[in-house]
Amino acid sequence: MFGSLLSVFVASAVVTHALPGAKLPYETSDNAVFQPLERRGIFGPIATDSPAGIAGGEVACGAPPVSSFFAGLNPPFPTNSWWASYAAPPGNETAAGPWPYESALYNDGVVFGISTNRQFDGTSIKQPTQTDWRVSFVEHQGNFANHKATGFDTQTVTVQYFQGSATLTTYLVPGSPYMTFQFAGATPLLTSMNGGITSFNGQTLAAGASTSATGTEFTVVDSSGSTYLIYALSSITLKATAVSSSSGTIQASAAYTGVLRVVKLASASHKALLDQYYQVYPTSVSLDYSFTDTTGTLIFDWTTVGAGSNLLMLTYPHHRIKLQNPNFPATTALGYLTTKGWMYPVIGNQWNLLYTLTSITWDPPRALDSSCSAAVLQGLEYEVAQLSTSTPPVPGDFYYWGGTLAAQARLALIADNLGRSDLVTPVIKYLETSFAYWFESSSSTLPAYETTWGGVVDKAGATNVNIDFGNGYYNDHHFHYGYFLTVAATIAKFDASWLNQHKDYINFFARDIINPSPQDPYFPITRCRDWFAGHSWASGIANGAGSRDQESTGEAVNGYYGALLWASVALSQDYVNYAKLLLATEQHGAQVYWHLYPQEDPTSRDNPYPEAAVLYDTQWVDNVWSYTMPELVDPTIGDEWKCVIIDAYSNANPQVAAEWSANITDWGTGQTFTNELFFIGTRPNTNGAPICGSLPQNPYGSFRIQLASNGNYVAASSANTNLVASATSSSTAAVFSSAYVPNSGTLELVSTSQYVTADISGSFALAAIRGTASTWERFTIRQKLGAASGVYSIKATSNGLWITVGGDGSLINNGASEAASAGFRFVPSASVLENGIISATE
Ligand SMILES: *[C@@H]1O[C@H](CO)[C@@H](O)[C@H](O)[C@H]1NC(C)=O
Ligand SMILES: *[C@@H]1O[C@H](CO)[C@@H](O)[C@H](O)[C@H]1NC(C)=O
Repeated sequence: MFGSLLSVFVASAVVTHALPGAKLPYETSDNAVFQPLERRGIFGPIATDSPAGIAGGEVACGAPPVSSFFAGLNPPFPTNSWWASYAAPPGNETAAGPWPYESALYNDGVVFGISTNRQFDGTSIKQPTQTDWRVSFVEHQGNFANHKATGFDTQTVTVQYFQGSATLTTYLVPGSPYMTFQFAGATPLLTSMNGGITSFNGQTLAAGASTSATGTEFTVVDSSGSTYLIYALSSITLKATAVSSSSGTIQASAAYTGVLRVVKLASASHKALLDQYYQVYPTSVSLDYSFTDTTGTLIFDWTTVGAGSNLLMLTYPHHRIKLQNPNFPATTALGYLTTKGWMYPVIGNQWNLLYTLTSITWDPPRALDSSCSAAVLQGLEYEVAQLSTSTPPVPGDFYYWGGTLAAQARLALIADNLGRSDLVTPVIKYLETSFAYWFESSSSTLPAYETTWGGVVDKAGATNVNIDFGNGYYNDHHFHYGYFLTVAATIAKFDASWLNQHKDYINFFARDIINPSPQDPYFPITRCRDWFAGHSWASGIANGAGSRDQESTGEAVNGYYGALLWASVALSQDYVNYAKLLLATEQHGAQVYWHLYPQEDPTSRDNPYPEAAVLYDTQWVDNVWSYTMPELVDPTIGDEWKCVIIDAYSNANPQVAAEWSANITDWGTGQTFTNELFFIGTRPNTNGAPICGSLPQNPYGSFRIQLASNGNYVAASSANTNLVASATSSSTAAVFSSAYVPNSGTLELVSTSQYVTADISGSFALAAIRGTASTWERFTIRQKLGAASGVYSIKATSNGLWITVGGDGSLINNGASEAASAGFRFVPSASVLENGIISATE
């Protein structure tokens, strides 16, 4: 959600962006080749109890996995991996990998290619999918059911095509420059998918012609100009046929038992390195990690055939930044430009990626700036009082409920941080009352255990992708359950008996997104995380699972922060560390791929977007600030978006952010006034000035409102409820009680106890006709710019427009700018000067 305004900065892979992770111990018994997982440091499961008793019971997804693909394997299955399209029906959409390739599993073979078309429109990167080759074997009859997964881990999947005893096993390993095809008693058949074959091993082929060669290395060029190398690990005879100008095949002379490695030769200068390392191939990877108090090391350890020390892999920019003791060949030796920037080579089958872990858990890294205390406490008292007098929500969905309650949970944490335990309790009670619905089978919105893939979903969404952002199809779980965990952790922090009672149940949500272990029988490993890509995917198994997106990096980071809070209150230190590692890696992925640093040299090795040099000017937050300035001052754009930008900017300049935050009157469901100002007031303060210098406020108290231009007072009464500046003396002026609402206030007509409301259309006079005050009954009253001291402008929250005075004196909220606002004086009702005498009127 929060992603929308920021999405202009997201360099999205339209087609994809890849994913990876440790090979799970799922193997079919007939697969002798597959290597079992080495599981050294992997943490055990958070729990292994069955979620079948969850309030919504069990359901089955409307898009269960293609049964032939997982033949012989049992759930849980990955849902948000780069290869989700292999398993999600119909099972033949394009997968987001294995980078640098994209691929799909067709009835008749594995298709793959590397895009040679990169488009940059100023805000996003697109590399349309390109299919270069299909690899299969002659004996395969093209039956869709004749291919299946034989194993998978946190990054790789092994797929086998089979016909009788003939098999083709392919190890789909992100980061491998070579596609690897292992044949057993099968006659290799490669088919060109992007034009005809124009030459084979240097020999030009006219349409209709063919040529054969025997050996271990072959070169083929297609009519689009792409060159591929084919390496055979044992000698083979291949015959290339230019079937027509647009199609061609390469077929072995006989059934083959051995390995072919197929690799795109993007530049002739890459051949030497590819020649040197083709003989060692990866079949799987184990994921491991180690921790100190302040760091986490993510370890990828590829299982190889051949000496692991000679494994040639490709790195993304974020790998190169974090890799310890890397053995990097020159970047000129090999490289592919992907949506994440250049993939460059590295040698060796073990990577250690070192991350600094956060020391932050519950409290911000520094105390609230004292200049902000009064305003934060005033907001806190107000917002907690609002909760205390309202009915805690009955969940109507997962996403909005979670975002709303997580924002409210922050109020308890802020109250605790500021030593106001009296304000903690009402928030916790409120949260508990609302959370209780998740435990009741009679609730209208229910969590259920989905059995075909394995996970907790919104029950109603299991067969309807349009419910809850596709939660039932496994979209966005890290966002949704991150919020749930934030709320649950906050309750648990202050109510140990609640924790004891509900811990196992809340763990279903934790296991759904941060299960670290292949030994949890009910949940896949860390559902959304793509370990190789360095971030999470929000996309589950909807739409054939053909493309991946992340959509909201902030909410992903927030999701793992929620997991960290839950781990810190309910789980062991291992899971605290694991959540911190997820948080650190997710943040780093967002920084490298979603935040642009245009001052970075476009030719720099680790800049993922070499084309972006002109668009923005300084650091990312400054960029966002200036880039979004037109939106920030546009009254038609919702405050809930503006406050996200203001929060981000507070990391660069908290004083300016605090000033701007005073303009905000709507924080959306995912934020509160208190949390926003608390956040701003706890940012690094490099210049030392008070962060909340002088935050403007409405004048609060009892007032008569006087039009500055002609001295008329605003009248309103039970007989005429409209506000009209028609009273020529204060004695016939209406008296209004002006009360605090964060950054704004309400105006209540004292004589009738009715609140002044501003219609959203801006076509009608303000009227004192509401018994209770909500959004439309809020006004921002500020010293009018350029006017005499004490002359105020008034802005209606309902439509963000300023109050003007019509020909008949009616006050109407239709002024597009502050300058258009009429000027008003707020004359305290206890000190109205009448005929030279101060008279008390109340
Ligand atoms: C993908 O599968 C669907 C459903 O079986 C089929 O209609 C379609 O032709 C297939 N596409 C390809 C490219 O194989
Ligand atoms: C918001 O606040 C800033 C700083 O106080 C001010 O300069 C700006 O004009 C305000 N914008 C709007 C739309 O009120």
